[in-house]
Amino acid sequence: MSSAGAKGQNDRKLLKVLSGEVLPTPPIWLMRQAGRYLAEYRATRTEAGGFLKLCYTPALAAEVTLQPIRRYGFDAAILFSDILVVPDALGQSVAFLEGEGPKLEPITSTVELTRLDRGKTGEKFGLICETVSRLRQDLPKETTLIGFCGAPWTVATYVVGGEGSSDQAAARRFAYRDPKGFQQLIDILVDTSVDYLDQQIKAGADTVMVFDSWAGTLPDREFAAWVTAPTARLVRDLKKRRPNVPVIGFPRGAGSNALGFVKETGVRGVGCDTAMPLKDMRTLAKDAGIAVQGNIDPLLLVAGGDALDRRIDETLEAMHGLPHIFNLGHGIVPDTPPENVARLVDRVRAFNKVSA
Ligand code: CP3
Repeated sequence: MSSAGAKGQNDRKLLKVLSGEVLPTPPIWLMRQAGRYLAEYRATRTEAGGFLKLCYTPALAAEVTLQPIRRYGFDAAILFSDILVVPDALGQSVAFLEGEGPKLEPITSTVELTRLDRGKTGEKFGLICETVSRLRQDLPKETTLIGFCGAPWTVATYVVGGEGSSDQAAARRFAYRDPKGFQQLIDILVDTSVDYLDQQIKAGADTVMVFDSWAGTLPDREFAAWVTAPTARLVRDLKKRRPNVPVIGFPRGAGSNALGFVKETGVRGVGCDTAMPLKDMRTLAKDAGIAVQGNIDPLLLVAGGDALDRRIDETLEAMHGLPHIFNLGHGIVPDTPPENVARLVDRVRAFNKVSA
């Protein structure tokens, strides 16, 4: 705490852990902590008149980002936006249809890449960065502000497929048939993401997270080419502009590729999915010397009760003595009872163990 006793930016626990510090109580935030499980989110979304309108209306996007902070006092707020604002800003319009998820007009060949124009992104990125500035003003000083983007591979799966899919077949097919063309798409996404994250940091983001939700469907050679290599370049180029801002990676489903990913990309923190064994999370923190984040099953948070309590305790004990950020292994789902989130936060905060 500062000499005046008020909490300040040096008290941002998430940043401490990302710099390798071990805290007696890990900082906690949850992926999709703002969202449909909260009545106040549903009300603001209705007021905005749609999901993308909500993302592009700074006052309302800031409001929904703050809602879970007010309710639960999380250690970090994540900018309310979506990974698909990047293709949307590049000119490949995205629509979110009620109950159906995102829809884009697919780009399936190299000639169609001319539809993506980096010169067009200013207005939409500007609106999102205005949300970031408002948040930095309105958040408690000790709350870390996380900016984000989607990883090139995961965003490419939507650009090429035109919607979400369980196997990302369209992008995999494009990448196998025309690796040079696919590389051009990946390069556009890397360069645009670096600019976008740089702007978020300028507006006040303390750290940035790169979501690679679909990293787990690739064989190892393609994992190296489309997940690790583009993320490594993204981190390297961003570091040239923002050397002190830590990046958190989230190669969901990476399994045994996670350690190599961390070492080759230079991320300072790594999100671990639900399937990652706690012993492997420990190994990641120790062998790679970075902060690990995760990995409670979002469906266990829906179920609640003793099973949730047991898993929280196991996670806290297993990660004790290592730089750990408490989180889920994937985003909160809409049917999560808000009281289970309160129970989770209380239980994590009650853990306060000084390292042996
Ligand atoms: O609270 C937060 O985590 C911040 C905001 C955030 C959203 N999406 C809001 C959102 C973040 C960080 C994301 C990332 C995102 N978006 C990812 C990567 C992380 C992950 O979940 O794997 C992906 C793959 C997307 C793409 C996306 N956005 C899909 C597939 C969908 C539809 C599925 C769904 O849950 O409806 C979205 C919509 C979306 N993004 C919602 C929210 C709160 C729901 C929209 C609504 O209100 O109807």
